[in-house]
Amino acid sequence: MTQDELKKQVAHAALQYLKNVPVIGMGTGSTVTHLINLLADCNFKNDIEAAVSSSKKTTDHLQSIGIKVIELNQSGDLDIYIDGADEVTPHKKMLKGGGGALTREKIIAGASKTFVCIVDESKCVDVLGKFPLPVEVLPLSRSFVARQLVKLGGQPELRVDQASGAPYITDNSCEILDVRNLTILDPIAMEKAINDIPGVITNGLFALRAADVVLVGQGSEVISY
Ligand code: A5P
Repeated sequence: MTQDELKKQVAHAALQYLKNVPVIGMGTGSTVTHLINLLADCNFKNDIEAAVSSSKKTTDHLQSIGIKVIELNQSGDLDIYIDGADEVTPHKKMLKGGGGALTREKIIAGASKTFVCIVDESKCVDVLGKFPLPVEVLPLSRSFVARQLVKLGGQPELRVDQASGAPYITDNSCEILDVRNLTILDPIAMEKAINDIPGVITNGLFALRAADVVLVGQGSEVISY
């Protein structure tokens, strides 16, 4: 199977977590895109009263299949949040934000009882950090934060919009530093250390709030842990 087929396969397995859930939390990325496409044809789609979305892209997609999107302030805590990841460990700690939606993803994950992480097998790692770690920053703090990230051993690079060549701007009107070469042996300590830098909105380590269930599209099957 191709990576995309594995993503679709694991997205299909995740549908069961959305049954009998009135308000769902939805992540961002290509695996979630498969999930929303599959949800469009599900017989229980109309039982879903609303969704809380982690990005403008996901909001548009959910609305296009007829699902109402509400704010987290309106919904209160959620039962289920489903999202992909760029890396996930056997301890269910994740590195996320390749799609740029890390801050809203982390907020909704924090407000959800169960976080279901859906990945293809290429995302499974023992140690986080091979994938560049996204750090969302206030634009005015960009250079200062970058210098602090260098002191932590990383090599930050400002994310640029591939089409325009201009700095990539998040849904929160902020910028992203992608940090290479961090040795993330203690993800909780690293998550806290980066969040402590003034100007950081959040970083893509999901260790303080790890996943509760990980579904992995692996070969011809989906495994869960
Ligand atoms: C979005 O900001 C990310 O956290 C995604 O969840 C992550 O990049 C996984 O994306 P794919 O499902 O596209 O691999």
